[in-house]
Amino acid sequence: MRSLIVGTGSYAPKKVLTNADLEKIVDTNDQWIVERTGIRERHIADSSEATSDLAYQAAVKALEMARLAPEDVEMIVVGTVTPDMPFPSTACFVQARLGNKKAFAFDVTAACAGSLYALATADRFVASGAVKNALVIGADTLTRVCDWTDRNTCILFGDAAGAMVLKPTDDPRRGILSVHLHADGSLANILNQPGGGSRHPFSQQVLDERLTYIKMKGPEVYKVAVRALEDVCREALDANGMTAGDLAQVIAHQANKRILDSTLHRLGVPAEKCWMNLEKYGNTSSASVPTTLDEANRAGRLNAGDALLMMAIGGGMAWGSALVRW
Ligand code: COA
Repeated sequence: MRSLIVGTGSYAPKKVLTNADLEKIVDTNDQWIVERTGIRERHIADSSEATSDLAYQAAVKALEMARLAPEDVEMIVVGTVTPDMPFPSTACFVQARLGNKKAFAFDVTAACAGSLYALATADRFVASGAVKNALVIGADTLTRVCDWTDRNTCILFGDAAGAMVLKPTDDPRRGILSVHLHADGSLANILNQPGGGSRHPFSQQVLDERLTYIKMKGPEVYKVAVRALEDVCREALDANGMTAGDLAQVIAHQANKRILDSTLHRLGVPAEKCWMNLEKYGNTSSASVPTTLDEANRAGRLNAGDALLMMAIGGGMAWGSALVRW
């Protein structure tokens, strides 16, 4: 038995921050940001919205599409690195807001690859028959941990949530065919948020050194990302006896247009097969893959049986791909 994605949903907060707005905050300009990243604007959660609030909105839409009542969900897994609180999990807050008592609920942490790690986890539970349905969410409010004095990073990120509902299918032509995950913890220093955990607990010094914000060595992340994404996509295609020509659609983590263009070029996938929305949202971390999937789905770009390749990479470094027959 395989698991099938039967519902998708997404949500972005109302407030929009454009590149022009950023020009007033740091020494940058629209042309630099567009040329280097492809991003034009991003959505920012307001002070009353936490990650679980975004996640809940996306979940409601995905459940509606799946025609599944919130109280019937059996498993909730949220990929996030910006939880509402260190504990309980953001998934528990989502469960409570859905009025659900049945589901077990937990978060997974794989930065921008979080939604693929969450999908892989839920897929195992559904495909094995352990649960009849699962709600998988990628949700992040990275703008809460952006250093708004650091032009190298603050231009990149936005807030959003995306959700997917999985159910089992007996249809041999459809479902999640494979998920491949990788990590390389020796690269932890090129992208991280060092402060606020047990290594550097909150203190005045940690705050003064701005360790509670995202730190990134952009060019190094860029190089690792292009190589790792190409490799993990080839791994997915090889494992399923497919070539890039078999793909109907690619859903990729929206980190940077140049990373994506380069990866697609190396794989031999035409750019028009990859749904892009980073222009409007920036890098929304865990939310990126499921929100992009939801947009493509609601735009009618996905047909039953289509081969669909998902890919993502983030801090860890952690990365992965999923090959799906829609
Ligand atoms: N506006 C204007 N200039 C900027 C800037 C900004 N927002 N950010 C950096 N610069 C400057 C730098 O200071 C540097 O100036 P210098 O040459 O005088 O020192 C110059 O632009 C080039 O910086 P560099 O970091 O080499 O640029 P880059 O071409 O590598 O682009 C990134 C920077 C961040 C866009 C790019 O490295 C990248 O996208 N990396 C991957 C990041 C990512 O996707 N992270 C998330 C992964 S999940």
